[in-house]
Amino acid sequence: MIMEYKVADVLIPEKEIAKRVHEIGEKIGKDYAGKDLVVVGILKGAVVFMSDLVRAIPETVNVSLDFMAVSSYGDSTKTSGIVRIVKDLDSSVKDKNVLIVEDIVDTGLTLSYLVKLMHERQPGTIRVCALLDKEERRKVSVHVEYKGFSIPDKFVVGYGLDYAGRWRNLPSVHIVEVLEQ
Ligand code: IMP
Ligand code: MG
Repeated sequence: MIMEYKVADVLIPEKEIAKRVHEIGEKIGKDYAGKDLVVVGILKGAVVFMSDLVRAIPETVNVSLDFMAVSSYGDSTKTSGIVRIVKDLDSSVKDKNVLIVEDIVDTGLTLSYLVKLMHERQPGTIRVCALLDKEERRKVSVHVEYKGFSIPDKFVVGYGLDYAGRWRNLPSVHIVEVLEQ
């Protein structure tokens, strides 16, 4: 059977995302006012969200940016939760306030691994921000302090999220439809 995929309905329109991102930015602004904050984006999915989010954080927070890239070990359909660091942080986060920014939390395995790894680097504080959350799919619990939207168990693309590397550039979040032929 040949499987084809197409981008279907808009799940979260561009304008709704922008509104929510601003709300989260302001909340972060209140929580970290007068403090330093290292915003750590998880490549590549989080870059679109992160670039909008950091511009929504007021200047009362002393923001710096860093990035990590991870890839799952082995069979990607059976997430082991063990991720390989493809790109590590540029700077030490020891005693710093760290905010990990992810595109989506699915099983929670990737994030829980990343949080554990980050703890070993002894930051002052660690919090997690994710644009999307598929709560139904959770296998391990992860505390997401700043969450954009809870979504149903559907595969989504756009606003940084991809299917096989595609569709990250769409301004809205869309559901991917599987066409069986
Ligand atoms: P987890 O370890 O199962 O929570 O997987 C999280 C990762 O899976 C995210 O960082 C995404 O890269 C990917 N992912 C999960 N669901 C989707 C989706 O609906 N669209 C695009 N990527 C997804
Ligand atoms: Mg990702």
